[in-house]
Amino acid sequence: MAWFGVVEILLAIILFTAIHYWKLNRNTPITKWPVVGMLPGLLYNTSNIHDYINSKLKQCGGTFIFEGPWLANMNIVFTCDPMNVQHITSTKFENYGKGNDFREIFEVLGDGIFRSDSNIWKYNRTLLHSIFKQESFQKWLRVGEERKFIENQKIVDEMLYSEIKSKRDIKNQNQQKPDLLNTLMNEVRDGQNRIDDKFLRDTAINLLAAGRDTISSGLTWFFWLVATHPFVEAKILEEIKERLASKEDNKKDLGVEGLSKLVYLHGALCEALRLYPPVPFEHKSPLKHDVLPSGHKVKENTMIVYSLYSVGRVEEIWGEDCLEFKPERWISKKGGTIHVPSYKFIAFNAGPRSCLGKGISFIEMKLVAAAILLNYHVHVVEDHPIIPSVSVVLHMKHGLKVNIKKRSI
Ligand code: HEM
Repeated sequence: MAWFGVVEILLAIILFTAIHYWKLNRNTPITKWPVVGMLPGLLYNTSNIHDYINSKLKQCGGTFIFEGPWLANMNIVFTCDPMNVQHITSTKFENYGKGNDFREIFEVLGDGIFRSDSNIWKYNRTLLHSIFKQESFQKWLRVGEERKFIENQKIVDEMLYSEIKSKRDIKNQNQQKPDLLNTLMNEVRDGQNRIDDKFLRDTAINLLAAGRDTISSGLTWFFWLVATHPFVEAKILEEIKERLASKEDNKKDLGVEGLSKLVYLHGALCEALRLYPPVPFEHKSPLKHDVLPSGHKVKENTMIVYSLYSVGRVEEIWGEDCLEFKPERWISKKGGTIHVPSYKFIAFNAGPRSCLGKGISFIEMKLVAAAILLNYHVHVVEDHPIIPSVSVVLHMKHGLKVNIKKRSI
């Protein structure tokens, strides 16, 4: 009998606490529990994190504060408000750095452009900006067959350092191939000083991280969207056939100049990058206390996450049909490409830290997309689950399974 009494009292306490918290939580996007804060809601939805955060942002008008467990110092400001994004990435750029958490997690990137702030970043950015303009850089993109390089830093270091050494051994500049490492070595050699190996290694690994998985992620979502929208596929093919002159061997001219004529294909790629940005979120920390345009106050070192995934799905920017794949929304009445400011079309980030590889990415993606679509039918395997992975790059969790059939042109 005494046991019944204890159980009843416990139940009453649990019920009372639950009602109390339900009342407290009526206006918060994620239920906040004693001690553990909002963490359970986030953990429960990890597998679906981007859509989950997107729905919460929508519910709160574009910005909400996630409160982590007590004493864990884990409060995070989530936002997809374009005004906040512009404020953080451009207007108050100097006040927002990558933050210590980012530096700790991405130690493998050394002091390269991705992990650095202030003067080291400025040095990296200026150097890479000048390298990116050189043709030799484009040839380098094939370097680095080690797919899981982040997982195995030692192998990557050995590979890069041995590559650097063998390049140093070729003394005669005329014998050097015009690839990235040679270009970097020649660019930075100032007087007698030579660029040090660690800097070369950090730069190479940062560019591998920047340019490989992003493009492959972007193209994977693109092929899935195109294959599931036959009307779009037909229009892309029609445009290629119309705008690129046929050569004798019946292949189309896929040179860089020709690619710029493919306005509809450009729109389809922008649309894929809008809906499935290869880098789905960014985080920043203010150096000094600030107030965001949305009115949210942020103390120094607060973690702010802006969701690139959600910015691409804001109804106020893209309209009620924002979840639909419509390349047409990128094409003006005169048939040109509509320019959307980078704080709204945020896939390549905005402001002084926007992607240095944006131009080359479109060239690469158009080349691959046009070459494949012209020559093959891509059929998505039915019932194969298409879910974004929970990772820094928005891969498909289970990959994209397709059947490929030769197309007769
Ligand atoms: C579809 C392809 C790509 C997408 C969506 C993309 C997106 C981005 C994003 C979101 C950032 C900001 C990252 C951050 O600050 O944390 C970034 C930075 C950067 N990207 Fe890309 N990127 C792509 C391809 C490339 C390629 C091919 C290269 C060159 C190999 C490249 C080079 C860089 C560099 C060097 C930065 C650092 C800029 C800085 O911090 O100042 N990206 N990119």
